[in-house]
Amino acid sequence: MQTIHYKNAVVKGELQVPGDKSISHRAVMLGSIAEGKTSITGFLNGEDCLRTIDIFEQLGVTIETEGTNVEIESPGILNWTKPTEELYAGNSGTTARLMLGILAGAPVEATMSGDASLSSRPMDRVTIPLRKMGASIEEKSDADLLPLTIKGTKLNGITYKSPVASAQVKSAILFAGLQAEGKTSVHEDTVSRDHTEQMLRYFGANVQTDDTVASIQQGEMLTGRKVHVPGDISSAAFFMVAAGLVPGSSLTLTNVGLNPTRTGIIDVLKRMGLGVDVTDATTENGEPVGTIQLTHRPLQGVEIAGELIPRLIDELPIIALLATQAKGKTIIKDAAELRVKETDRIAAVTNELTKIGANIEATPDGMVIHGLTPLKGGTMDSYGDHRLGMMAGIASLITSDPITIEGAACIDISYPSFFKDLETVTKKSL
Ligand code: S3P
Repeated sequence: MQTIHYKNAVVKGELQVPGDKSISHRAVMLGSIAEGKTSITGFLNGEDCLRTIDIFEQLGVTIETEGTNVEIESPGILNWTKPTEELYAGNSGTTARLMLGILAGAPVEATMSGDASLSSRPMDRVTIPLRKMGASIEEKSDADLLPLTIKGTKLNGITYKSPVASAQVKSAILFAGLQAEGKTSVHEDTVSRDHTEQMLRYFGANVQTDDTVASIQQGEMLTGRKVHVPGDISSAAFFMVAAGLVPGSSLTLTNVGLNPTRTGIIDVLKRMGLGVDVTDATTENGEPVGTIQLTHRPLQGVEIAGELIPRLIDELPIIALLATQAKGKTIIKDAAELRVKETDRIAAVTNELTKIGANIEATPDGMVIHGLTPLKGGTMDSYGDHRLGMMAGIASLITSDPITIEGAACIDISYPSFFKDLETVTKKSL
């Protein structure tokens, strides 16, 4: 439990947010699949990514972490050792689902498990295509939920039409495809984040992409690389919104990942009226990186739907908070995936923002927010969901009374230095 209040604190200065969660996971995964030495800089030391490291250590990979530097020395996927205990993914859907794809064709047998939240999240979205490839997966319950025992076996390539625009599904299939005979292709209706394709290619795998289709050919053993992880745009989003909430704010965010499959938040903030300028753009290991400059301006409501949704799926809770301070109606639709995230984010965001005075309704696949409403203080529950915890923290910038966050510790999942960084860019008014 944590009580905070930054009322009237103008958001100013420069900040570098921690490393990208999706890219940090994939850097450790590819560095462990590949033979030899991989050096990672800018790694995110959040709970989720640390679970991924623990799992590869159990598979016989040597991993040393010092600050945000990670050194991996791997015998390569074909020489991993059988783990003696369950592989525990904690709260991390990315770890669990991508590991199932990786393990499907690896010469080991292992049981993947997770915490209570992860154990209730759907795994059939990956087990169905993996079984089509020949994977041997056994569940303890009737539904395909964790824990799942997977025994590496010979796989065949498939062409799969994914029913959801999910990078976790696409990535699990592509990782399995690396070990599968022939070619494996994943078709999506709308393209999801493509970090797996970028990183597989960077490590030397034969990956082709064409709009909403990603394909991979069975590969030789990959070899280690040097990887730089840019700052996480999903973490930066909390501070972009902070600058959007408080009049007079002006903030610079450096070294932010700008992969176009993730930048929907920038498009939406611009449409809402916030001043957003992107500069210094470069590319490192296939990933665009740059600086984002935010300037507060009055905001208006917008509609957020369709192809934009996968490009900002993790930002929708914090966008909902911002929408309470935008004039008019903000409509979020086509986002039913929010219901199967770390918690049901449609129900949780609606409940928690209503508690502090927002005018917000849940719909089956999104939310409708009527602005502009003053927000009061109170107790907000994180539901053990890091993004809900941070949404509550940012709300305290504009509430009339302090905010108490129940279960604030879960913020460590993706942003351990969140409160320190919030302190840095604000001047506490209490
Ligand atoms: C992620 C993909 C997204 C996202 C999650 C991270 C990834 O999930 O919400 O936080 O790293 O692949 P889905 O693939 O289920 O949409």
